[in-house]
Amino acid sequence: MSDPDVRAFTVGAVQENTYVVRADAAAKRAVIVDPGDESERLLAGAEALGVEIEAILITHCHFDHIGAVAPIARATGAPVYCPEIERGVLADVMRWVPPGFGPFESYEAEHLLAGGERLHLAGLDVDVIFTPGHSPGHLTYAVASAMPALDGEHAGSEPGPKVLLSGDVLFQGSVGRVDLPGGDWATLEGSIGKLLRAFPRDTIVYPGHMGVTTLGRERDTNPFLAELRSAVPAPAPGAAAAGS
Ligand SMILES: [Fe+2]
Repeated sequence: MSDPDVRAFTVGAVQENTYVVRADAAAKRAVIVDPGDESERLLAGAEALGVEIEAILITHCHFDHIGAVAPIARATGAPVYCPEIERGVLADVMRWVPPGFGPFESYEAEHLLAGGERLHLAGLDVDVIFTPGHSPGHLTYAVASAMPALDGEHAGSEPGPKVLLSGDVLFQGSVGRVDLPGGDWATLEGSIGKLLRAFPRDTIVYPGHMGVTTLGRERDTNPFLAELRSAVPAPAPGAAAAGS
């Protein structure tokens, strides 16, 4: 199986990356991750790709990642998957939005996630990983194209390579800020270490801001990961590190 097809849309006042993810470039179903703003543009983008949005996944509930959740849920009928700990933020968005941004619409999520779940959505296998530190309930989604089933049911085995939709955990040459409520550097560093240990170094990372990177590149060059570099050995490309 090939990598999932991931399309980025950079939206809103703080240039957040929303992603439309599908099993391959011909797939007609997709999930959307962190629809942060500009709902009309995101819906037009999905239509141009020829996909139906089957689910809305949220990494964390900072306003720049959730500003378009309600209008996209309404337009598509897709259910919303939200970090359990941050449900109340999505349900009362404007209480948490700094002056000068918005207005954004609140939304009561259909599904709450704590980490550890595996979801089967739009022909994708989605592993949910708890990665707090930037925000208290932050989740990372490890997404692989699912094996097509011969009988129309989900085959549930031998998925393709995983890519990470990592929100504001890890950026190209940087990391998520930890000075907002619920943020904590030691916790964030632990979350990044968990990802480095659990996935091969050539794993592609699609972050919530700025450009695409890989776990190996960040492990080797990210100035914020100096201590993790000595704690997490560099495995061979494509080899999963031990101790996930
Ligand atoms: Fe954030």
